[in-house]
Amino acid sequence: MGNSPGTNARTADLPPTADASPPDTGPTSRGGGHSAVSIIRAKRDGGELSDAQIDWVVDAFTRGIVADEQMSALAMAILLRGMNRREIGRWTAAMIGSGSRMDFTDLPRPTVDKHSTGGVGDKITLPLAPLVAACGAAVPQLSGRGLGHTGGTLDKLESIPGWQADVTVPRMREILADPAIGAVICAAGADLAPADKRLYALRDVTGTVESIPLIASSIMSKKIAEGTSALVLDVKVGTGAFLKTLDEARELATVMVELGRDAGVKTVALLTAMDAPLGRTAGNALEVAESVEVLAGGGPADVVELTLTLAREMVAQAGLQVDPAEVLADGRAMDHWRSMIEAQGGDPDAALPTARHTEVVRAEAAGVLTRLDAMGVGLAAWQLGAGRARQGEKVQAGAGVEMHAKPGDSVTVGQPLFTLHTDTPEAFDAAVESLSGAVSVESAPEGKPGELVLGRVG
Ligand code: URA
Repeated sequence: MGNSPGTNARTADLPPTADASPPDTGPTSRGGGHSAVSIIRAKRDGGELSDAQIDWVVDAFTRGIVADEQMSALAMAILLRGMNRREIGRWTAAMIGSGSRMDFTDLPRPTVDKHSTGGVGDKITLPLAPLVAACGAAVPQLSGRGLGHTGGTLDKLESIPGWQADVTVPRMREILADPAIGAVICAAGADLAPADKRLYALRDVTGTVESIPLIASSIMSKKIAEGTSALVLDVKVGTGAFLKTLDEARELATVMVELGRDAGVKTVALLTAMDAPLGRTAGNALEVAESVEVLAGGGPADVVELTLTLAREMVAQAGLQVDPAEVLADGRAMDHWRSMIEAQGGDPDAALPTARHTEVVRAEAAGVLTRLDAMGVGLAAWQLGAGRARQGEKVQAGAGVEMHAKPGDSVTVGQPLFTLHTDTPEAFDAAVESLSGAVSVESAPEGKPGELVLGRVG
């Protein structure tokens, strides 16, 4: 993780490289008295960027004047040197200003959205959006596709036959205003924080994702531009998350809550565990099926618990007096799911795609499963074809990992631990290897699995 916001003062330890550096060349990266190279050097040497420097570099990058390699160097300097709170706020505002802002204030119902920083088996958006809509809120949920070991909500929903991720803004408005639907989960339009789209793609391939200032500004620029009045953040912490420690997660949550508040968006953050995967599936169609189980009143206990916890926060932020547990239990959330899927061209009754090949991995020892590492399971699902290595690659709808035991469960020798699903059976060996390092079975367990919700900020 890069330096914390505000911890950017190590200039005194460094040689005075800025003065000694060769002059900035290349007319394309200069403008209005600013230059990409001088801004990179300033941050590289631990300096604070001015409002004018931030506005210029984000705008020039969006217009293709600052080159990808220059922005990548700046992102690395930010990761290593950090940004203070003023810089993060200005960077976020500049990214919002790179595109257009949506406005749903005229809808007859309060808007509220949720964002997760990403985890393994994290299908919570699928049951949560229709549940909160059924409680009376409008839920404009702009979501992304997966990259690496964490899955993407749009990839999961695209496994439903006919379902379309692209929805125009007028159609979004119609869906949100319709009391029988009220939720839309779709791709962000090209004009929503375009600077973040370009920067995120660069960060992904330059080892610069894990920076609190860059994560906070990336997430909050999109959420503020999306026009929601309230926001609940699910900040993941643990081996399967971007942030591995509770302190880092709390710091990220605090910055994001402040950015939301400064922009007039009522924001609260929960810190939730991501050491083990959520639920019993990691994959696309596999996670849709598990989400439908939750909406039907069943599903794994951890998925139900987190869905209801986040729904209560969202309903409270929206100022509604409804108990989400009742709305889930009496089938209203399921009704909204069905109409939400149909509104985007999907058939909620269609059979979900399945993978052509499966393989079962069995326990080699008896005892209690004490560890099921989210990163190992996420990696295995990705190797089986559920995720992508590069932007734009196709994912396999049926691929993924089914988990037959979770931490705290007793297992016997030979008992199935996982079923692996894929269309490309040559991937089995790598996935089995990833999973073998992800599991511990012990005869004397140290204790029960930990809490799911680790803290709250806001
Ligand atoms: N999700 C985002 O949208 N941006 C980040 O930087 C990390 C996770």
